[in-house]
Parts: sequence; C-alpha cells; structure tokens
Amino acid sequence: MKLLITGSQGQLAKEIIREVEKRGYEYIAFDHGSLDIIDLEKVREAVKGNLPDFVINCAAYNAVDNAEEDWETAYLVNGIGPKNLAIACEESKSVLVHYSTDYVFDGGKGTPYTIADIPNPINTYGKSKLLGERFVQSLSTKYFLIRVSWVFGVGNDTNFAKKVLKWASKNETLKVVDDQISSPTYAVDLAKATLDLIKTGAYGLYHITSPISCSRYEWARYILELIGWEGNLLPAKSYEFKVLAKRPGYSFMDSFPIRETIGYNLDEWKEMTRRFIEEIGDEK
Ligand SMILES: NC(=O)c1ccc[n+]([C@@H]2O[C@H](COP(=O)([O-])OP(=O)(O)OC[C@H]3O[C@@H](n4cnc5c(N)ncnc54)[C@H](OP(=O)(O)O)[C@@H]3O)[C@@H](O)[C@H]2O)c1
Repeated sequence: MKLLITGSQGQLAKEIIREVEKRGYEYIAFDHGSLDIIDLEKVREAVKGNLPDFVINCAAYNAVDNAEEDWETAYLVNGIGPKNLAIACEESKSVLVHYSTDYVFDGGKGTPYTIADIPNPINTYGKSKLLGERFVQSLSTKYFLIRVSWVFGVGNDTNFAKKVLKWASKNETLKVVDDQISSPTYAVDLAKATLDLIKTGAYGLYHITSPISCSRYEWARYILELIGWEGNLLPAKSYEFKVLAKRPGYSFMDSFPIRETIGYNLDEWKEMTRRFIEEIGDEK
C-alpha cells in the first residue's frame, strides 16, 4: 500500500504519518510549502510522479472566523484543492481520501446528523468544505469522504483542547459555551480508523467521531478536571462572544455505518480526552 499525504504539518496528518510508519506502509508526505493543493499542475505532477494507491488530503483552511472575510482563500483550499486532487487521482487511478466537517450542517435538526442528511452550512467555512465535498463526489470514481468534528491532538496549538489548557494556565475564571454541541475526535484515533477504513474498499461517505455528544463547556470541564485546575469554570452562551462566523448549535454526527464497516466505533470522547492529556504530559 502506497500513500501520498498532503498538508503533512497538520495535526491529523502527523498522526496519520505516525500510524502509517507503525504499519510499515510506503508513503510520501508533502507539507504546504512543498505542495500547494490549489495548484492543479503541481498536484498532477505529485500524483503522477508517485502513483500512490491512496492520496490522503489533510490540507485544509480551518480558520472558521477568518473564512468570513477571506472567503476566497477558504474556497480555494477547501473547494478547489480537493477538486484538483480529485482530477489528479482520477487521471492516475489513485483513490482520494478527503475530510470534511460537521459544520456542513445548520445545527437545527436536534437529533444526530447521519450520512443521509442534507447539508445546509450557515457559515463560509462550512460552505467551502461543502464545495470540496461536491467536487470530490462528482469527479471521483472511488473516494472516501470522511466528515469529522472538533479534531484535537498534540500537533496543533489552536485546537479547542489545547486552547482550554492555555486559557487555564493564564486565568482563574473561564467562560465556555454550553450551547454548541458536537463531539470531539482525537487525531490519533481518527488516523487509525482512516487507515482501517481505506483497506476495506467500501468507498463513499462516512462520519467518524466519538459516539457520545457533549457541549464545549462539558468538554472543557472534563479537561480541567483531568489536570486538577482549581479555577472557576462558568457556562456561557454563544451570543456572549463576538465572533465573525455563526456556529451550528447541535452538529453531532452519528457514525453509522462505521462500526458495520471497520468493526468498531471510536472511543467515547472522555476516554479520548484522557489519553490526550496523558500524551501531552508535561507540555500542559
Ligand atoms: N480541526 C478541526 O476541528 C476540524 C473539524 C472538522 C473537520 N476538520 C477537517 O479535518 C481535516 C484535518 O484537519 P486538521 O485539524 O489536521 O488541520 P490543521 O491542523 O489545521 O492542518 C491543516 C494543514 O493544511 C495545510 N495547508 C493549508 N493550506 C494548504 C494548501 N493550499 N496546500 C497544502 N497544504 C495546505 C496547513 O499548512 P499551513 O499551516 O502551513 O498553512 C496545515 O498544515 C481537514 O480537512 C479539516 O477541515 C477539522
């Protein structure tokens, strides 16, 4: 099995590379500087020159608020990038593995979103990711399109879990919203599940996240409990924070049919968070 990984400095890519090395697969990794996915000719060159079985696209523009103003960059990286990869994969008979987000949903459903639900993004980031989904689905014969939510890991300082640890180190009181509900996804577990999934040949659309939902407040409370923080954590509402992009209120996704396809569901978010805090060790 030969893999080509894009966006190799990102938090998910780092875990995929770690897992790929453990499994002894052959791979080539490109960071942003060595392969910009918005450049079709460069993407073609990289895929044609390496002829991987799978291209795992970990490159993305994830700055949800910045995307409201810098929509062109968001559309280029999250929309045109996957389009270029889909074209190059099709030409080289590689399978494209691409990630999307729970933010393609509007958050109004009130029960878990399944792969049968119709996306209706309420912010520019969500729209840009949906554009990428559409290109991947319309241009690829064989693909894995994996929606994930609240990705966290040691490889990125701007994920929510890392931010909570940073805020807690500098403040005695924290306010975190309890009206945004989804599910954390540990990059380590997502990397393993991705590699197990792509082996199956069961191409198509998937949701991969923890099987239990939580609010950002509940997640923060658990993180702070694990590190023995003695400050004061208060629940808040989204409208109390001035941010550019609207967030869906309830964007928790059901992982069906991931268990039926790879034989297991991801761990619950508390277990994933506990392992993350253990992994991060003294760094916190
Ligand atoms: N993080 C989340 O909470 C979350 C939630 C839902 C879905 N997802 C999706 O999950 C996937 C993995 O995300 P992640 O959390 O691992 O992201 P990440 O840590 O932000 O990494 C993204 C990587 O993409 C690179 N990149 C940006 N523009 C690029 C371009 N034009 N060409 C090549 N590389 C480029 C970035 O490099 P530079 O930093 O050098 O620009 C960065 O190394 C993405 O598809 C993301 O949209 C993430």
